[in-house]
Amino acid sequence: MRCLSLGVCLALDGVGRNMAVVLIEWLFLLSLPESWFELSGLWYRPEFKPDLLDSLSMNILITGAGSGIGEGIARGLAAEGHRVMVTDYDAKTADQLAKSLNEEGYTAFGAALDVADQQTIDSVSDLVAQTGWGGVDVLINNAGLQHVSPLEDFPMDKWAYLVQVMLTGVAGLTRALLPQMREQNFGRVINIGSIHSLVGSPYKSAYVAAKHGLIGFSKVIALETAKSDITINTICPTYVRTPLVDQQIDAQAKVHGLSHEEVIEQIMLKPMPKGVFISFEELTGICSFLLSPSARNITGQSIVVDGGWTVT
Ligand SMILES: NC(=O)c1ccc[n+]([C@@H]2O[C@H](COP(=O)([O-])OP(=O)(O)OC[C@H]3O[C@@H](n4cnc5c(N)ncnc54)[C@H](O)[C@@H]3O)[C@@H](O)[C@H]2O)c1
Repeated sequence: MRCLSLGVCLALDGVGRNMAVVLIEWLFLLSLPESWFELSGLWYRPEFKPDLLDSLSMNILITGAGSGIGEGIARGLAAEGHRVMVTDYDAKTADQLAKSLNEEGYTAFGAALDVADQQTIDSVSDLVAQTGWGGVDVLINNAGLQHVSPLEDFPMDKWAYLVQVMLTGVAGLTRALLPQMREQNFGRVINIGSIHSLVGSPYKSAYVAAKHGLIGFSKVIALETAKSDITINTICPTYVRTPLVDQQIDAQAKVHGLSHEEVIEQIMLKPMPKGVFISFEELTGICSFLLSPSARNITGQSIVVDGGWTVT
């Protein structure tokens, strides 16, 4: 219909042009059955989605989706009509989320996936096959954790574990899914980095090193996948109110003798000119954009969501 409108637009010049477009669009709307209008508010619910939109539904594997940002993005993308494979090393939380999404009418599959376990990573294709959806179109590397300590007191096994989960595991899982993405000539890899992919903070050496590493890793994989419709990007948010951040608020409150509100205002959000937490909706929106055709040439980039932190 848009094409027809455009054709008439080009044919008609000047004064009559806008009127012709309006008239054609009205004729189109009048030709639709009444049920379409009833259903249009539920456009993104899979059970009402027209076949045409099926091609826009992607198979999305999210790591660490049992909590926080992973869960928020999984909920958001499922509501947009995508099929989400919610994974976590805590199988219970992944299963609970998948169950809840399926009950809401979306399409989800829950599975245990420990990104620090190379054996599990190597057999991820078998796990994906259990969904019965075909391959993975989108991998969201989200799993993460924090440990705060001066380097001299930082247990080295803990240091290695953080890097394993947030960098080596990301490389391993991307490596395991790339051949299938190459085969279908389509893939989107989205890493959940952090403001700490760009700046440092004392006592977070392992976290900051792993998150900085994501940027370098993505640049290299962007080059290695450049000849196919595969992109890899890293979203770098400042603080998002999740269990991971609540633990940090608790710890800082004890160390500095402050209330939770004081920690949030005087420490956490202070370097951020906009001074607010980043929401799950914002992160979901950025993921949606990265999945869209408009972003097919955006690769190897850091998408910084920092309320102005890095421009001060
Ligand atoms: N919350 C923030 O302010 C913030 C800001 C920037 C970036 N991030 C990043 O976002 C991601 C999610 O953090 P969050 O705040 O939602 O934390 P969270 O603690 O709420 O969730 C992290 C999830 O990762 C899972 N996980 C941990 N180790 C795992 C492993 N080995 N294998 C699989 N899953 C594992 C946990 O079970 C949990 O469900 C992390 O990578 C974090 O670094 C968080």
